[in-house]
Amino acid sequence: MAEQIEIRRLASADVHEQLDALAGVLHDCVAGGASVSYLTPFSHADARSAFEGFAAEVEQGRRLLLAAFADGGLVGTVQVILALPPNQPHRAEIAKLLVHRSARGRGIAQQLMEHAAAEARAEGKTLLVLDTVTGDSAERLYERLGWTRVGVIPGYALYPDRRPCDTTIFWKSL
Ligand SMILES: CC(C)(COP(=O)(O)OP(=O)(O)OC[C@H]1O[C@@H](n2cnc3c(N)ncnc32)[C@H](O)[C@@H]1OP(=O)(O)O)[C@@H](O)C(=O)NCCC(=O)NCCS
Repeated sequence: MAEQIEIRRLASADVHEQLDALAGVLHDCVAGGASVSYLTPFSHADARSAFEGFAAEVEQGRRLLLAAFADGGLVGTVQVILALPPNQPHRAEIAKLLVHRSARGRGIAQQLMEHAAAEARAEGKTLLVLDTVTGDSAERLYERLGWTRVGVIPGYALYPDRRPCDTTIFWKSL
């Protein structure tokens, strides 16, 4: 049976409408040990606050936020950071690619990334950059999608439990 996955770009009002679901995905990823900026303890309320901040940036045109819907609910999200220094008007950064653990392994992250790249291109961006935990599923995804690996920075960030983790930097021309 074909799986129905819908990817949509959310306006600021949509982000507020989906705040609980977006927070649920972030909370689940951090609970699962993902190194995506936050440390434990990390509550659902903390995750909501994070997305309230992202909604404000969406409102200001500083970032794009996309969401994936499947099985009747929001199961994943990704962001495109547009607000970079004046001498980098052609560049954007991918951030917070998150898929709920219950929805992984179905190509949802891949679809989110393909749509994020298309939205960035539509905004006039021709260069994307991202960083990700070294040796994770996400790193394989970016390689499959044709991103170029720059290299690894040892001990760049921390896992939620404060263990250090290495980070790989990637770029892609659009
Ligand atoms: C990284 C992450 C976003 C991937 O999400 P996902 O939706 O599971 O990703 P995909 O389904 O596109 O790919 C995952 C795997 O499923 C496989 N897959 C994709 N579609 C499939 C299908 N229909 N049937 C079977 N396997 C499939 C992919 O080949 C991939 O395999 P691999 O891990 O061995 O390379 C998710 O694990 C996550 O949210 N992690 C925590 C947050 C994080 O680390 N984010 C990245 C920060 S930059």
